[in-house]
Amino acid sequence: MLLEAHQVGGGATGGSTGHLTALLDTGLGRLIEDWGQHEAGLMVGANLTAISQIEQWSARFSPDCQLQRVEGILYTENAAGAGDLGREADAARLLGLGAEALDRVPLPFPCHAGYRITGQARFDPLRYVLGLARRFLEAGGVIHEQSPAKPPQDGGGAQIETPAARIQAGDVIVATHLPYVGALTLETRNYPQQSYVLLVRLTSPLHDALFWDDAEPYHYIRRYGGDDPHLVLIGGADHRTGLPINELDHLAQLEQYARARFAVEAVEGRWSDEFVEPADGAPFAGRLVGADHIWIATGYAGNGLTWGTACGLLLADLLTNEPNPLAGLLDPRRVKGLAALDRFVPENLRTALEYARIPFEGERVDSLAEVGPGEGRLVRYQGRKLAVWRDPGGELTILSPVCRHLGCIVKWNEAAATWDCPCHGGRYTATGERLGGPPPDDLEPAALE
Ligand SMILES: Cc1cc2nc3c(=O)[nH]c(=O)nc-3n(C[C@H](O)[C@H](O)[C@H](O)COP(=O)(O)OP(=O)(O)OC[C@H]3O[C@@H](n4cnc5c(N)ncnc54)[C@H](O)[C@@H]3O)c2cc1C
Ligand code: FES
Repeated sequence: MLLEAHQVGGGATGGSTGHLTALLDTGLGRLIEDWGQHEAGLMVGANLTAISQIEQWSARFSPDCQLQRVEGILYTENAAGAGDLGREADAARLLGLGAEALDRVPLPFPCHAGYRITGQARFDPLRYVLGLARRFLEAGGVIHEQSPAKPPQDGGGAQIETPAARIQAGDVIVATHLPYVGALTLETRNYPQQSYVLLVRLTSPLHDALFWDDAEPYHYIRRYGGDDPHLVLIGGADHRTGLPINELDHLAQLEQYARARFAVEAVEGRWSDEFVEPADGAPFAGRLVGADHIWIATGYAGNGLTWGTACGLLLADLLTNEPNPLAGLLDPRRVKGLAALDRFVPENLRTALEYARIPFEGERVDSLAEVGPGEGRLVRYQGRKLAVWRDPGGELTILSPVCRHLGCIVKWNEAAATWDCPCHGGRYTATGERLGGPPPDDLEPAALE
């Protein structure tokens, strides 16, 4: 039985950009340094297997998802980046990916160096998961959409509750992208990030490959899919969720980046969404710490389409007592001291600073009429701290800004029109319904006299 809070595919998967790659976001050189060549090889191998698995299932269950094998190209625009890029290509070779240096990077702007890796892929992730869902139903599975589940309880199997039912299960797998169980054992080791995407129509066709540059954070470029080589996805400009910035500036930066490099006919779409970075560069998949019958898979960074598949296969093996080489590596109980430390400390310090901000001042307003149509604002009004949203039709929603997870103050996300929690990435709609992440509930309405 699949319990889905909203709609199948409506989470990060449906808004992702459909690349399937074993060139992991952590960086292959970094992965070898932190985990060793053998373990890094297992991780890359698991993602290559996931691409093949997705290819097979696409052909059988989602033939409309337009899966296409393409090459992956890493490139740098700067002479200074060539050394690091060369080391990343060496790491890819060590891990069996066979990176080949390019004489010329097939992009319409000057690049200093580039490497190509064959056997990667792109597809339409939403059509793919809808095909899997149809197959699940045919095989006797049951799907309940619009069924937000409370955190499961362990003991005598596992119990899970939705607004409509209480379900007794043998085991429960929590596959909610950001974890919402295992308080603090997982939240302190997974960091929520925002990422931005433009759908752009170019005047000239784009070479059919997955491109990544070496910027920090990196940009990526690829065809959107279908048969139109002019329609292209350009993504990047990532940052931690809930920073005191205007998210629309990040979409504008991305557009500037695109227009400076391509002949852009039109920007046909813009969006942003959240993904989750694990502290030590590898996902967490396995039995939840302290539970017997609750299982979790999370922490895929920007590779959740392949990592998610690899973790799904791992959980299937764990639940049927089959051996799997990833079992120990991805165990949520693992302690990976040094590899995790350089992210653990600053990221959790950021969270601690957000707690310090809880007695926030907010901008004082004399009247809620100061919040205009289409605007979300944190305000102080009649001595109360409020998260206020006025929809384009003028209707006002007045909420408590206190996150239902551990009480941090949410922030208005201008690009996504959501309330985002800077502490562990909980997200709510403009009207306060929980979208995802650790909070178990919606934001509370604020009752004003
Ligand atoms: C802009 C962007 C582009 C990306 N592009 C790529 C890419 O090209 N390739 C790649 O490999 N990765 C990509 N990623 C990462 C990838 O999208 C995610 O890692 C992946 O989609 C996560 O899959 P998931 O099934 O865990 O989460 P989701 O797809 O978010 O699914 C989780 C589901 O759980 C539901 N849910 C949450 N809480 C509850 C609850 N309490 N009860 C019931 N249901 C609940 C949600 O409604 C949701 O539908 C991208 C991420 C972003 C943000
Ligand atoms: S998500 Fe943890 S306090 Fe908001």
